[in-house]
Amino acid sequence: MSKKLFIKTYGCQMNVYDSNRMADVLKPHGYDAVDSPESADLVILNTCHIREKAAEKVYSEVGRLRQLKDARKTDTGEDMTIAIAGCVGQAEGPEMMRRAPAIDLVLGPQTYHRLPDMLREVDDRRLKGQRPRVLDTDFPVESKFDFLPEEQGPQGPAAFLTVQEGCDKFCTFCVVPYTRGAEFSRPVRDILTEARRLSAAGVRDITLLGQNVNAYHGDDLNGGTASLGSLIRRLGDIDGIARIRYTTSHPRDMDAELIAAHRDVPQCMPYLHLPVQSGSDRILDAMNRRHTADLYRRIIDDLRAARPDIALSSDFIVGFPGETDADFEDTMRLVRDVAYAQAYSFKYSPRPGTPAADMEVQVDETVKTERLAALQALLNTQQKAFNDASVGRVFDVLFERRGKRARQLVGRSPYLQAVHVDVTRGDYTLDGMGASPYTENSDNGLMGTLVPVRITSAGPNSLEGELTGLPS
Ligand code: 5AD
Ligand code: SF4
Repeated sequence: MSKKLFIKTYGCQMNVYDSNRMADVLKPHGYDAVDSPESADLVILNTCHIREKAAEKVYSEVGRLRQLKDARKTDTGEDMTIAIAGCVGQAEGPEMMRRAPAIDLVLGPQTYHRLPDMLREVDDRRLKGQRPRVLDTDFPVESKFDFLPEEQGPQGPAAFLTVQEGCDKFCTFCVVPYTRGAEFSRPVRDILTEARRLSAAGVRDITLLGQNVNAYHGDDLNGGTASLGSLIRRLGDIDGIARIRYTTSHPRDMDAELIAAHRDVPQCMPYLHLPVQSGSDRILDAMNRRHTADLYRRIIDDLRAARPDIALSSDFIVGFPGETDADFEDTMRLVRDVAYAQAYSFKYSPRPGTPAADMEVQVDETVKTERLAALQALLNTQQKAFNDASVGRVFDVLFERRGKRARQLVGRSPYLQAVHVDVTRGDYTLDGMGASPYTENSDNGLMGTLVPVRITSAGPNSLEGELTGLPS
């Protein structure tokens, strides 16, 4: 009998990947994904613990779900199983079970291949009249990747592929080494197989995922160990994969081979998310980042020498314990020097169990707010400047969806900018290209293809453009 599965995903792209894989695991057991929790037999909240209020958000969501769960039981006699997956589950599982009795199951990021067993245990306990309370937040010796079924096909032409997981860096502010566990790299062979399958299913743009993706060191085909740079070279040989990206990287692991891949592999996109967190050496040291602002600047110089059109993105934390005005000014100076295309910035949030949470000189909340506003104003100006500089350029755009307006398709530029295109306007309208004439109900074969587009205008968060040629 078919059962309904609703998954809500919080946080990073790896959680998005994990949610899809959980759906893949459950599919052979009769679970079909639905897009609302109302009539679901199983609801999974795939949670994130990276910053503040994560657990609170989960508790209030569970509160809402409990009403659905109770109503379903009263109205139909059926159970709704509520599962907490991901990093909040990993970090606070037993506490969550105690605090929210509506939660039946807690699992961590490394155990979701065992979901069918856990659900069987939930059922068994119910049959015996017991409260389910199943918890599996192990870091098992086996790798979940060896037990996951083939992915059931991606949602569109851009897909994620996890190649590395976990982190051994222990930045003093970060929970990831505790919630995701030690560094692990998948073998090259498995990654190539998955990439070929994605390509065959129509994927053109692959983002390689890892908490520390450029620390990748998986078993190579010939017995040795492959770096991320050499993995990217191998992926460049797969037909159909037109774009390769990777995230998230650490400056310390930005080695020469990887920088060379940006120069030599045409599919390797000229866009890199390389978080620096702070521009102050004192704060970088206290964060245990193990590099200076200067080393970061030199890496950016090397990347730009290898690939002059590369654009950069980063993460920043303001108000790390002990951060002075002068430290913050160092961050602002670094941002001005690098000039980012895009960036994320956060107020420091003490995470229980991490060293920085116990540091004595915590920064005042109002100071954090002021610094964040100043930093974001600068980053927003840079992002707008980057978008403005795109006007007049021709980018290959990978069309992914229909826009809100009629005749409009939306895709991504090489720099991940959203590009909106009215397919009936411009030098090369579809009708003029000898392609099938435009109709409201078809995408004229453009969806999922790369098409040259001239950028005609830019906003803070997206671009508009016109077709200048046929799909490649
Ligand atoms: N407080 C604020 N920001 C954090 N990040 C990670 N941990 C914290 C924290 N405790 C940010 C970092 C990281 C991004 C994913 O989240 O900038 O790169
Ligand atoms: Fe967290 Fe640092 Fe590891 Fe990134 S490198 S996941 S910030 S500990």
